[in-house]
Amino acid sequence: MNLAFYIHIPYCIKRCGYCDFNTYTPGELQITTGLNDISNSYIDLLIKEIQFARAEVGENVTVPSIFFGGGTPSLMQASDIGRVISTIKNGFNLSAEAEITMECNPDTVSKESLTQFKEVGVNRLSFGMQSAVKHVLETLDRTHNPDNLLQATNWADQIGFKEISVDLIYGTPGESISDWQTSIDSALSLPITHISAYALIVEEGTKLAAQIKRGQVNPVDDDLAAEKYLIADQAFTSAGFDWYELSNWAKPNSASKHNLAYWLGDNWWGAGPGAHSHLNGRRFWNVKHPNLYKEKIESNQSPIAGSESLEELQRESERLMLSLRLPTGVAKKTLNEQQLLELSEYVESGHLDQSNWNEGRATLTVDGRLIADRILRKILL
Ligand SMILES: C[S@@+](CC[C@H](N)C(=O)[O-])C[C@H]1O[C@@H](n2cnc3c(N)ncnc32)[C@H](O)[C@@H]1O
Ligand code: SF4
Repeated sequence: MNLAFYIHIPYCIKRCGYCDFNTYTPGELQITTGLNDISNSYIDLLIKEIQFARAEVGENVTVPSIFFGGGTPSLMQASDIGRVISTIKNGFNLSAEAEITMECNPDTVSKESLTQFKEVGVNRLSFGMQSAVKHVLETLDRTHNPDNLLQATNWADQIGFKEISVDLIYGTPGESISDWQTSIDSALSLPITHISAYALIVEEGTKLAAQIKRGQVNPVDDDLAAEKYLIADQAFTSAGFDWYELSNWAKPNSASKHNLAYWLGDNWWGAGPGAHSHLNGRRFWNVKHPNLYKEKIESNQSPIAGSESLEELQRESERLMLSLRLPTGVAKKTLNEQQLLELSEYVESGHLDQSNWNEGRATLTVDGRLIADRILRKILL
């Protein structure tokens, strides 16, 4: 069996105004010790959970990818990240060519720390770039200066990281088409092999949502965001980055194995507070708060807060949802007559590709990608 590992690091120096991820500042957790102590003691907990995973799934398990996500994994000490990798290596069969990714905030890395991360086995970096335009970064309430990104990716390249990705956000209030073009051009000038570009989602309860409610910041303009997606797709594709998932583009052979494992419905274990796992049609998730997670792990209790077994219908809906996002789309022979009838209208309107349809697959055209959710709703069971 294959099992990808997601390792959650729930700490950030400051919470960005748009973000509702399960992450905390040391102040929010009333942690008074330095980050080094947090790193060491938090990783001890993760190691116990990985050992618990080993007892659950047994030894005949191959790990094709590990993904350190957050929060801000680059706040951890490289030696601690190395301890997680060694624990997985000792307990499972870690593939020789395993993809080991770490998300980094460009503000929290140095050439030295990136070198150390590489030495302990990290072989792919994903930087939270978001934008190259100062006023957009300010609206997003980001701490980093756009120049840090160039410096951080150049260091990564000089050190020998072959796989470097950046995350961009489009559709921030106040971002003009020319601002977005600046961010695209800036990303494409970096030594990178992969780009994720996400439409800004205004999450309830965030500082940004409150600013929009109070009228201090304009709401997101969906039509403008759609235009920005099309501009990005055109620019990334012309620069040699192939589209391989709704929000992801990669140079040949640089698609993320870990992300594909999620989208192809494989098994993964998420370690850390709030992390979700998927094992052969069963899903389970951990307690959300880091303090409760710590309490559970330290008292040798399972950190799992809940679980569900996916019914056949749910599994099928999930398969449709995940595969429609990919260029390979959905095989027509797996769909019923009603679904085919619904989809044929989208072939006529140019949202599904005519020649792939003739060859037996329903795949989104670039215009179809803009309304992927609407198309999906028509065929969900
Ligand atoms: C965990 S963060 C990445 C690493 C690091 N914490 C950072 O932000 O630099 C994952 C990515 O999710 C995206 N993201 C987070 N909140 C979002 C939102 N509300 N709308 C769109 N994208 C969002 C951002 O692009 C972010 O880089
Ligand atoms: S640094 Fe990343 S995870 Fe942390 S608050 Fe900002 S977007 Fe969210």
